[in-house]
Amino acid sequence: KQSVVIAGGGSTYTAGIVMMLIENQDKFPLRTLKFYDNDGERQKIVADACAIIIQERAPEIEFIATTEPEEAFTDVDFVMAHIRVGGLPMRGLDEKIPLKHGVVGQETCGPGGIAYGMRSIPGVIELVEFMEQYSPEAWMLNYSNPASIVAEATRILKPDSKIINICDMPVAIKKGIADIIGLADGNDIVDRYYGLNHFGWWTEMLDKSGNDLLPKIKEHVAKWGYGPSSVENDNPLLEEASWMDTFQKAKDSYSVDPETLPNTYLKYYLFPDDVVAHSDPTFTRADEVMANREKTIFAECQRVAAAGTAAETSFEAGEHAEFIVQLAGALAYNTYERMLLIVENNGAVANLPLDAMVEVPCLVSKRGYEPLAMGIIPQFQKGMIEQQLAVEKLVVQAYLEQSYQKLLQAITLSKTVPSATVAKAILDDLVEANQAYWPVL
Ligand code: G6P
Repeated sequence: KQSVVIAGGGSTYTAGIVMMLIENQDKFPLRTLKFYDNDGERQKIVADACAIIIQERAPEIEFIATTEPEEAFTDVDFVMAHIRVGGLPMRGLDEKIPLKHGVVGQETCGPGGIAYGMRSIPGVIELVEFMEQYSPEAWMLNYSNPASIVAEATRILKPDSKIINICDMPVAIKKGIADIIGLADGNDIVDRYYGLNHFGWWTEMLDKSGNDLLPKIKEHVAKWGYGPSSVENDNPLLEEASWMDTFQKAKDSYSVDPETLPNTYLKYYLFPDDVVAHSDPTFTRADEVMANREKTIFAECQRVAAAGTAAETSFEAGEHAEFIVQLAGALAYNTYERMLLIVENNGAVANLPLDAMVEVPCLVSKRGYEPLAMGIIPQFQKGMIEQQLAVEKLVVQAYLEQSYQKLLQAITLSKTVPSATVAKAILDDLVEANQAYWPVL
């Protein structure tokens, strides 16, 4: 039986992970489940409800919620980390400051993602250190964003640590696609994919019998976007012919992959002007999450706690939770499942640097992960990826060297930013806003 600590116990996603763990007791049985958070008050809201859920549905699991690192990280097999350094209020600033300057305001893309990266690096490294101190044999499965920058920081600062950086975005897209084409779930799609986190392309999607699903998927996406056809297409970018005609048809003389399907996050880099035009600088995704998801989840936690029973709880296991539990199961029970992970390239994408942290399919077993070779990628994608990779590497260097100049270079180089003048104006606002979190530059 396994022992798991969820770092970021007070997250709005935690209850979903608990539900998924309970549902999977046959495949991934637990002896202990712990919550760890540096915000004890916030964590208590989620923990009080989860204690009741566990007591009713899986009383054999010992449950502990703590703000003490030693108690949290001692005797664990897995650390599931999904922390948000600075919380949703700082996410709001990551989104609003760039928008004020007419630039994409997004928590992982562009200057907002860079700002968030500077905050996340020390937070995630601290968790790795707790794990290494108290449970050196454990694996950390890290969801904390911005995943690309965090992954580069762990590559440099903790090269020997057992940490796997992951993202549920491709999983969520695959699940949506499975619904569209009538497959039971995203795991029924066998894919080839390459890129950086939130910056990648699929080159193949097959069903388990080996049938090519891409033509049907692309026909649907061209018409309806990545959602079901019953839903009005709310993404005007997908009506942009160049999305399908230029960026999907990637064939060139070097390419082994004739066509691709882009990750939806590429819209922030390919069509930043449209994204900004469709953004409300006074009410961003952070406001939406605080007004809706956070409120609903905390209200449900408080309702369960007051009722003293979770018999009628609306909490359910989500795909965010499914992926991390599936990954833990593959590592614990040697299943050799194929999963998209963020790993050091080392040749998996033949014409990208060896030390890039790339997102590619890997086989996961007790030994850890083995990346699959994605071959040579086309010039256009390679160029875009190298530019973004330089941004991410510069952010980590800026953090380590406490360098204003390198951070300015990173923001200037982001494809979402139109000029060095705009980059500097944004950076100066971000420095001011992040005083409590960033090293002094
Ligand atoms: C997806 C992305 C994550 C992101 C999350 C935010 O899961 O892959 O990188 O953090 O969405 O979701 P939210 O609902 O908070 O905007």
